[in-house]
Amino acid sequence: MNTASPVLEVRGVSRAYPLPRPRPLAPRPVRQAVADVSLTLARGESLGIVGESGCGKSTLARLITALEPPDTGHVLIDGQDPNTLGKAALRRLRRAVQMVFQDPLGSLDPRWPVWRIVAEPLAGLAPEVPRADRRARVIDALAAVGLGKDALDRYPHQFSGGQRQRIAIARALVTDPDIVVADEPVSALDVSVQAQVLNLFLELRRRRGLALLFISHDLDVVRHVTERVMVMDRGRVVEAGPTAEVLAHPAHPHTAALMAAVPRLEAAWTGR
Ligand SMILES: Nc1ncnc2c1ncn2[C@@H]1O[C@H](COP(=O)(O)OP(=O)(O)OP(=O)(O)O)[C@@H](O)[C@H]1O
Ligand SMILES: [Mg+2]
Repeated sequence: MNTASPVLEVRGVSRAYPLPRPRPLAPRPVRQAVADVSLTLARGESLGIVGESGCGKSTLARLITALEPPDTGHVLIDGQDPNTLGKAALRRLRRAVQMVFQDPLGSLDPRWPVWRIVAEPLAGLAPEVPRADRRARVIDALAAVGLGKDALDRYPHQFSGGQRQRIAIARALVTDPDIVVADEPVSALDVSVQAQVLNLFLELRRRRGLALLFISHDLDVVRHVTERVMVMDRGRVVEAGPTAEVLAHPAHPHTAALMAAVPRLEAAWTGR
């Protein structure tokens, strides 16, 4: 693995979805969800992606995590394009980029105990890891998010919202990824709990050298966890740069409008 080259490179990716025909036989219109987006992420770096609902953030996340192929353009993870790989190589590459979603209840199977939820990516993506080692990796991942062994045999509903998001993060960490793509990971949490989970992301970056792609509509959240930010509008990147600069002097009217719309998180952070 080359430590100098970017851990993620996105080159001009686009993705369109067909819309219903306005009337029979009319040409089928499309929604350009992501349009010619490029970005690079260095090892251990944290990049925020912000923009209004529907601007294409989650679609971009699905392209980057190879859940969907782009119509045009390329995604390179550790220099490799997932869309050109065979099954075994793709499995190996998928370990390097894991995802955390907004709603931990929706993304964790309620019928599974925590050990099985956290172990699942290992079972699917690293079948060569012996069962006995899986348990140790699950315990490590839980410890990294501040949960003990007593969590192993409990079920998602037995945890608070913040703890459930920790379980989702442990699940993302268990394959020892280079990149975590977090799509609105604190939007469903109370403001006081948001600050704790954001601090956890900061700590994981520091301790594990994890690169973070952090998607949020909330600029205050992005301010606290990212050093660079990209602003999207209708599928395109309209502004990008160091987070502090972009937020202090937004050059694009869309960024300024986003800033005017966000509630302040400051109160929850001053107690840190
Ligand atoms: N599978 C799909 N089929 C059809 N249209 C889709 C699909 N996925 C996304 N879109 C459309 O593409 C656009 C971008 O959606 P996307 O979910 O990426 O936005 P987003 O920025 O994540 O929004 P939000 O902040 O609400 O999560 C929207 O207009 C959406 O309706
Ligand atoms: Mg989304």
